[in-house]
Amino acid sequence: MTASAESSSELARLPQHVAVVMDGNGRWAEQRRRPRPFGHRAGVKAVRGIIRACVAKGIGALTLFAFSSENWSRPRSEVRSLMDLFLRSLRREASQLSDNGVRLRFIGDRSRFSAELTKLMHDVELQTQHNARLHLNIAINYGGRWDIAEAARKLALAVQRGELAAEEIDVECFGQALSLSDLPEPDLLIRTGGEHRISNFLLWQMAYTELHFSTALWPDFDEAAFASALADFALRERRFGKTSKQLAPDGKTEGG
Ligand code: FPP
Repeated sequence: MTASAESSSELARLPQHVAVVMDGNGRWAEQRRRPRPFGHRAGVKAVRGIIRACVAKGIGALTLFAFSSENWSRPRSEVRSLMDLFLRSLRREASQLSDNGVRLRFIGDRSRFSAELTKLMHDVELQTQHNARLHLNIAINYGGRWDIAEAARKLALAVQRGELAAEEIDVECFGQALSLSDLPEPDLLIRTGGEHRISNFLLWQMAYTELHFSTALWPDFDEAAFASALADFALRERRFGKTSKQLAPDGKTEGG
């Protein structure tokens, strides 16, 4: 195989959209006898690393699970420190992300955030809206069930207003009402921290996503760990319900 053929086949096996459950910040801090927010701050460094790696490799979309709808039930001091960290990190990083062609968007229910954070999220989305090198989506106060319920509510309202016939609602139409419907669905989900769960992340969007579980705690998830997740992904056979034979380059589709 020539070098260019090799690199183009490598490219074909690169995910277009990577989703990440960044788990293990608390344990990372506890191992160092430090308070949990220390782990979240270290987690921001790992966030920078994966963004840089995605830009360098030409991965077009990255969706990070920063705060789930269930995370409000954590100790009040931890929630406050996470909100503060989001605010400070966004303020600090927005311009650099924008200069590097990153489009930033937030998915989730914004109704519980402070006015200051809500405004900043809106401003950053506006500031980066024309960038297309990397679509960086931050899931914050997000839940997959919330996303599905919101889509159902939007469609029901459209039916009520007479803009949509109930008969028109199918998988395609429903998918269009969900978060990130303008992006390809995640090809690869990485979850760090050793747990094997989806935890109410992009439930609908991950129907055919390849899952990669890493025992690394999120602050330790470095470039080498990401490269190993991508190498694991490159070996997966994605059949989307077909047979292996159908997927072979000369594979004939049975029954047309
Ligand atoms: C889960 O680890 C991590 C979180 C709930 C917060 C993740 C947030 C960051 C890494 C900051 C990201 C910042 C921006 C601006 C995107 P855990 O606390 O559940 O860890 P544990 O399982 O060890 O307790």
